[in-house]
Amino acid sequence: MKRIGIMTSGGDAPGMNAAVRAVARKAITEGLEVFGINYGFAGLVAGDIFKMEAATVSDVISRGGTMLYSARYPEFEQEATQLKGIEQLNKFGIDALVVIGGDGSYHGALKLTEHGYNAVGLPGTIDNDIPYTDFTIGFDTAVNTALDAIDKLRDTAASHERTFVVEVMGRGAGDIALWAGVAGGAADVIIPEHDFDVKSVANKLKSSRERGQKHAIIVLAEGVMHADEFAKKLNAYGDFQTRATVLGHVQRGGNPTAKDRVLASKMGAYAVELLMAGKGGLAVGIQNNQLVNHPMLDLFNAKHETELSLYKLAEDLSY
Ligand code: ADP
Ligand code: F6P
Repeated sequence: MKRIGIMTSGGDAPGMNAAVRAVARKAITEGLEVFGINYGFAGLVAGDIFKMEAATVSDVISRGGTMLYSARYPEFEQEATQLKGIEQLNKFGIDALVVIGGDGSYHGALKLTEHGYNAVGLPGTIDNDIPYTDFTIGFDTAVNTALDAIDKLRDTAASHERTFVVEVMGRGAGDIALWAGVAGGAADVIIPEHDFDVKSVANKLKSSRERGQKHAIIVLAEGVMHADEFAKKLNAYGDFQTRATVLGHVQRGGNPTAKDRVLASKMGAYAVELLMAGKGGLAVGIQNNQLVNHPMLDLFNAKHETELSLYKLAEDLSY
C-alpha cells in the first residue's frame, strides 16, 4: 500500500477536520502518499481528488465543519456508480481509504472494500448513534453547544418563571439530550429510548412550582417529537408559561472541544495503522477508553447502546 484516500461523508461534525489532519499526518509520517477526496462518494465518482501534503492540513484542527466538504449521494448505493468510483481510485493509484462519517457512509466504505480497496471507517457524527463505540467524533462538541444554549435559556426562564422545552438534535438517538440534560440540570429529559408520560412531566412541574421552583428546562430529543408539539401537550395539563426552542443546526458547527480533537486524532492515526496492516471493512471505535475495531458488517446488525443510567440520574436529580 502506497497511496491512501480520505473522505468525509454524510452530515458534517466538529472534529472531522482533526480526523482528516490525523490521517494525513500519520500517513505522511509513515511514508505514504495521501489524497483528499472532496464531497464524499459524490466527489470520488466525479474524480474531485487532490494530493495532500502535511501543510494542507495546517490550521484545521481547531475548525468545525469539514475541509473536504460532505455530501449525501444516494446514487452510490448502485453498483454501476460504485464501479465509476473504483475507476477513479485506479486513475489516482489509491489503494486504500479512510471514510469519516456515519453508518450510511460505512455501507459505501464496505462496498469499496468488497471491490478490493480496503476502507476503514471513523465515526463522525454529532448523534453518537454508532454501535461499538462509546463516543463519536463531534458528539462532545454538540453537547457543549446545546449546554451553552440551555444555560442561557435558564437565565431567561428564571427571570420570567417560564418552562422551556429545548429540542436538540440526535436523529433517532437521545444521547445529546441525555448528556445536555444531565449537565444542564434539566427538570426532565425526553428521549426515544425511554417511554414518557406528559401528564407525569406536568405533575412534576406543578409540584416544583408549589415548592417555589417556578422555572424549568425540559430537554427533548428531536427523535421523539417537535418541541412545539410537546409544549402543546404539556399546556393541556396546566399553565407552565411554556416556550419551545429548537436548537437546530447550530449544534453541528463550532470549534471542536479538546475531547473531540483528541478522539479524532487518536482514531485517525489508528485507522492508518489498520490500513498499513492490510485490514479493511473495519469501523474504528473507542470503548472503555481503548481504541477498538469491529467489522462494519457487525455494526449493521447492531444498535448503539445509549447510557440509560444517565436517564435515571437525570430523574433522581430533578425535582
Ligand atoms: P451518514 O454516513 O451520516 O449515516 P448517510 O446515511 O447520508 O449519512 O450516508 C452517507 C453516504 O453514504 C450516502 O449519501 C451514500 O453516498 C453512501 N451510502 C449510504 N448507504 C449506502 C449503501 N447502502 N451503499 C453504498 N453507499 C451508501
Ligand atoms: O446526523 C446529524 C444530524 O444533524 C441529525 O442530528 C439531524 O437529524 C440531521 O443530521 C439533520 O440533517 P440535515 O443536515 O440533512 O438537515
